[in-house]
Formats: sequence, structure tokens, C-alpha cells
Amino acid sequence: MASITSAINTEKWGKETEKHFGAIYDGVWDRDMYVDDIPWENGRFRELLENYSKIPPSEVEAEISRIRDKAWNVAKYPCIGFFAYLRLNEFDDSEPEMHKAVERLKAPGSKDAFLEIGGFICHTIRWLTYIGVDSERLYGTDLHDEFLELGYKQFRDRSTSKATFVAGDILLPDEEYAASPLAQTFNGKMSVIHASNFFHLFSWESQLVICERIVRFFKPGLGAAGDPAVLFGYHRCSDSPGETDKFRIYLHSEATFQSLWDEVGKRTATSWKVTMEPLPIPILTSHVFGREAKAMRYVVRQVVVG
Ligand SMILES: C[S@@+](CC[C@H](N)C(=O)[O-])C[C@H]1O[C@@H](n2cnc3c(N)ncnc32)[C@H](O)[C@@H]1O
Repeated sequence: MASITSAINTEKWGKETEKHFGAIYDGVWDRDMYVDDIPWENGRFRELLENYSKIPPSEVEAEISRIRDKAWNVAKYPCIGFFAYLRLNEFDDSEPEMHKAVERLKAPGSKDAFLEIGGFICHTIRWLTYIGVDSERLYGTDLHDEFLELGYKQFRDRSTSKATFVAGDILLPDEEYAASPLAQTFNGKMSVIHASNFFHLFSWESQLVICERIVRFFKPGLGAAGDPAVLFGYHRCSDSPGETDKFRIYLHSEATFQSLWDEVGKRTATSWKVTMEPLPIPILTSHVFGREAKAMRYVVRQVVVG
């Protein structure tokens, strides 16, 4: 078997790194990261498929598994193999930031726009639409256009949704990135951005690039009169922050995530306040993240002075 250190792509995450998902572990990955049956309570996702997508109740589970298996063949992320996305726990009563975002998006006359980064099949966008947010102000993106296509298939809303879905690599080299649909569609437009199970995929350097690009996604001038720019979600963190040994990914503490955002602030002439707290959900036992990893939710809010 190839040694882990020589096999991994140390430059960045993305399609190149994904090739190593299965390869490194020679079948162990599939055994550890893929379950046949849905292990979670998934009432919210079922409600969405029955009421929004109009899928007959008796067909819901088979449809979920059919789409999940197609997604797994595109890229073997643990959250896909484990059906973690079915929980839609971003919308639990215990998630104040999402509730604030929904209030903001549904306020009469709201011009706020919401972007889901690393959205996979963009299930969050569909739930927001289902609960009454104007889908014209909802945006989703992922590295894989296959995932965005599978989203249309899972939710059966290609002809009804007004949300904008754009596939692309958020880590393209500068020049290519500036001309890419991501920069062209999102720059200067967003007020609320959500990214879960995303930052923990990348090295410190890659996270810096991503965060700088996220800052450019926000509308200029937010926070002067109304609500500030906000980015939130959850990710794997560690009490011993740093890069894990298997993949070159940086797991944060609150202090290191704040340092990252301080650096982003310097580079973009902006200022950001990070808060982070434990997320009370069971963690996937994935060897990618190491034993120290724990799930935390984070909020990064723009600080506007004066
Ligand atoms: C672990 S999944 C998380 C999915 C979803 N946010 C959730 O919490 O269920 C990470 C997602 O990030 C996307 N991704 C990975 N590298 C990326 C990149 N360089 N640019 C854009 N998206 C990327 C993957 O395709 C994948 O769908």
C-alpha cells in the first residue's frame, strides 16, 4: 500500500485530493465511512422530500439511498457515506445563528442574500425555500457540478427553484479564479454565508485563500446601517490545534480560527470577530480527522467601527 505521506496531495483539497479517499485505505475507507442504512433521525429531510419535492412517502428512503450512492461514486466524503446531511441539524431550535439568518432573509423588504459554500446537494437551500425564504436570494456552490445536479434530482425542483447554483473550485489560482463563475456570480452580493463541514478540509494556507475570497463575496457596506456580514456553520476542531497527520488539514481552536481571521482582516482591510462553541451531536469516528477532533459551531461576524 502507498504510504500516506507520499500519497497525499499536500497542495490543496479538491478533486486531486479526493482521488486519495479510497486509494490510501484500500477498502478500509468504504468499510469505515459508508453505511447501508440511514443511522439518523431524518424527519426534517423526509418532510422536505414529501412536501417540497412531492415524493410519495413509501419511496422516500429508496430515493435518498439512490442519490446518496450516486454522490458516493463522485467523491467519498464521510458525511455522504454516513448520510450525515440528512439530519439538517443546522435548523434545530438550538442553532440561534441560523434562526437569525432566517429572520433576516424573511424580513419584509429584505435584500439579504444567503450563500451555501461546499453545499453538496444544497439541502439547506431547499429547506430555506420550503420554510418561505424567497429562493431568488439563495445561492449554493460546490466543487462538483454532479452534486448540484443530484440536488435537482433529489429535490425535483429544477423548474420551480429560483435559487442560483454554481459549481467551481474555490481554490483556483488567482487569475483563473477571478474569471470563474464563482467570483463573477457571488462577489459583492452576499450578506449571510453558511459553510459546514468545510474549513476542516483544508490547510491553513488554503483556508486563508478561501476566507479572503469569502470576504469578497460579501456586499460592501454591510453593518453601517443594518446587520453586519456573517459567516457561520460547523466544523471539526481540536484542543491541540494544528495540521492532522493523515491529510494536510488544519483543525482549529477558537483562538487559531480568530488568528486566521485576523490575518484575513489585515489582507482585506476588514475586521472579524470569531466565536466558537461545542456542538452537541455525535461525531463521526473518521480517521481522517484524528482522535482529537470534535464538532464545534462557529460564527464569524464583521466588526464595523464608527
Ligand atoms: C464534507 S462535504 C460537506 C457538505 C455539506 N456542507 C454538509 O455539511 O453536509 C464538503 C463539500 O465541500 C466541497 N469542496 C471540497 N473542496 C472544494 C473546493 N476546493 N471548492 C469548492 N467546494 C469544495 C465538496 O465537493 C463537498 O461537497
